Amino acid sequence: MDPLTSQSLEWPGGTQRTQKTLPQTRLLSLGLEFPFLVAPMVGLSNVAFRALIRSYTPVGLNPLTFTEMLSTRRLPDEKLATTNELKTAPRETFFIPQLLGNEEKYISASVQKLLSVNPWGFDINMGCPVSHTLRHNWGVRLMGDKSYAAQVVHWTKQHAQRPVSVKLRGGNGEHESLDDLLEFTAALESAGADWLTIHPRPRAQQHKGSANWQLVKEVSRARRIPVVANGDIQTAEDALRVIGEYQADGAMIARAATARPWIMWQIAQALNYPHAPAGREHETCPTSSEDEGREYIRACLTLIGFMKIYFPQEDYILEKFRFFAATGSRWYQFGHAFWKMSTKAKSVSELTESIEDFGMRFSNPSFNRVKFL
Ligand SMILES: Cc1cc2nc3c(=O)[nH]c(=O)nc-3n(C[C@H](O)[C@H](O)[C@H](O)COP(=O)(O)O)c2cc1C
Repeated sequence: MDPLTSQSLEWPGGTQRTQKTLPQTRLLSLGLEFPFLVAPMVGLSNVAFRALIRSYTPVGLNPLTFTEMLSTRRLPDEKLATTNELKTAPRETFFIPQLLGNEEKYISASVQKLLSVNPWGFDINMGCPVSHTLRHNWGVRLMGDKSYAAQVVHWTKQHAQRPVSVKLRGGNGEHESLDDLLEFTAALESAGADWLTIHPRPRAQQHKGSANWQLVKEVSRARRIPVVANGDIQTAEDALRVIGEYQADGAMIARAATARPWIMWQIAQALNYPHAPAGREHETCPTSSEDEGREYIRACLTLIGFMKIYFPQEDYILEKFRFFAATGSRWYQFGHAFWKMSTKAKSVSELTESIEDFGMRFSNPSFNRVKFL
């Protein structure tokens, strides 16, 4: 069945719609009605960023969001309430801690600890290409040993009591190999993985260039479990395309979500979903480049507001905000100037004033897509 087929559906609030509805994918079998996700990103996908994404999500929809990758070696000795990377919002749901690890005792201790904040599921990182993870045989290195990787899934499943997923790449070397990927994902499926995300760029490509969504299609057709596409999904149209055209069960957005944190609203609007985010009930989602430019300023101020709630250290807020701006401002005409301005602020109040001033002095139109270098 075409996942984007029109059909009648009762939306929350009793509104009947007969045009496009939410795509029906295999993620429904895990209870996920809205198959759009925001990716794990070190230094970015903290509790404040997740709150920003939620603030832009129409009422009634629940995109899954991730924590940044968390070392299972360190986690057992850390405090969930005070370690910034581990913080969660009160009653936060639909979030997934992403684990970096390969030893049962650390995985089990980390999972046990995280269960107390009631995550929706757990994800295992098998895609990180940085040298530190390679040295420890974590991340993408696990793709080099399918039996061991399957064992890591098995250990996590034993302790998790909820869905376990794996995020992996198109290949663990210079190039992608469909045969290797099919074998590897079959091993993860047999070990009990509930779903997979594929970032179809091989290790050597890091995050550059375009992603090979065709590879996701091939894997998705071969696997019984849901397969989510990640990589180079920059717009609502891209997100719908990977599901409609490439048979992905979900679309996971990383960097573009730091440029347009309202992308879930854009997707919902493209699907004729009748509700807006709370507090924006009578508005349509920003889609023109000028409207996105204005919204970006507003989003940055909202993010700083959330950061002030969760992070007591001013330096930490400044550092994390600058990284957020460095990542997402590329989608804006004056993005470089905006990011530079953020590096000059010496305090959070100075940063806030500079952003407000920037917003008043410049229009800052967005680019629909950027080239990843
Ligand atoms: C700054 C940054 C940090 C990242 N950290 C993680 C991480 O912690 N775990 C992970 O699985 N992937 C991580 N990634 C990879 C992204 O989740 C995603 O796979 C990649 O950026 C491709 O998606 P995109 O093209 O939509 O950005 C990171 C990417 C970036 C740019």
